[in-house]
Amino acid sequence: MHRRDFVLGALGAGLASTGSMSLLSPAGMSANAAAAANAVPYGAAIRVDNLESDPDYAAAVRAYCQQVVGEGGLKWFDLRPDRSVFNFDQPDRLIAFADANGMTMRGHTLVWYAALPEWTKEITASEAEFELTHHIEVVVGRYRGRIPNWDVVNEPISEDPAKEGALRDSIWLQALGKGYIELAFRTAAATDPGAQLVLNDFNFEKTTEVCRQRRVAMLDLLKELSDRDVPIHALGLQGHLTGEAEIDKEGLSRFVEEVNGLGLDIYVTELDVIDNNLPAAQGVRDQISALRVRDYLTAICDVVEPKAILTWGISDKYTWVPIWFKRRDGLLNRPLPLDENFQPKAMMQVLQEFTRAGS
Ligand code: XIL
Repeated sequence: MHRRDFVLGALGAGLASTGSMSLLSPAGMSANAAAAANAVPYGAAIRVDNLESDPDYAAAVRAYCQQVVGEGGLKWFDLRPDRSVFNFDQPDRLIAFADANGMTMRGHTLVWYAALPEWTKEITASEAEFELTHHIEVVVGRYRGRIPNWDVVNEPISEDPAKEGALRDSIWLQALGKGYIELAFRTAAATDPGAQLVLNDFNFEKTTEVCRQRRVAMLDLLKELSDRDVPIHALGLQGHLTGEAEIDKEGLSRFVEEVNGLGLDIYVTELDVIDNNLPAAQGVRDQISALRVRDYLTAICDVVEPKAILTWGISDKYTWVPIWFKRRDGLLNRPLPLDENFQPKAMMQVLQEFTRAGS
């Protein structure tokens, strides 16, 4: 057995053997977590087609969520099937669900390097500014005053800044240089001055050198944007946690503190646990995943109260994780707070320590 599996197995077994998940009991809750539990909204990324076809899924979202965000629908791939077309079907259906259930809806995402339709490859450097600003003006304009919070630019930092440079390559960076980020935020702010504008990215929470470099690159970018008075209001921490990797609690807390020191709020936008390298046993796996979530949220909430904490999906029945992180043993991934039958797992108990999930 690989040493890592042995260690994780022992960690999980130890946790599972404590019976009532005592490690996760409120008794161990930090003061900030207790405070946050009364204030911080909980939300989830939603697949609107399943919301309409699966009553148990819709019931679970209604039972636990104060916020929703479209897992798809507002990405260029869904929204812009053709250069002259904006297809608002999915976001319109999701915002109608949110309005009918007293929830708020986040907008994800206006500018990303991925999920771009084929025709965007035809955008020339001289057309890029118009295509970027026009897209934002039409989309944000449609939901002005109704979507209060946007992931304006998603994942601008490169996977490995030490090897690739600070900023991730994209058609926008190639055509407009790093100024595409400022342009996107200024256009969104001009279109809906009342919206909270968020820069969203991932992989800041491990003890690895890559995570450390990514924290540095993100802080440098945020400082530059702040120095130029770019209208950016928050950093979105995606929170796709690697199940077998411990959380760098000190490094993450220090990072969040520095970001907040720039006057920026914090969102946890896409929390889940990628469990393909965790032990097979369900109880052990769920305990380790819940522990990672608790360490992650403790590191953040001990320093700053997030404006919201959202998971990227709510049930293991509907998750993106197996697209990239299928388990070699063929078992279902269990990345989310509800299992495939919408039953709460230890992770939901942890989320209820830090948010209003289920209230
Ligand atoms: C993912 C969706 O979950 C998938 O269904 C889709 O095929 C690809 O995009 N970070 C992000 C999200 O910001 O937009 C991604 O969502 C997951 C990684």
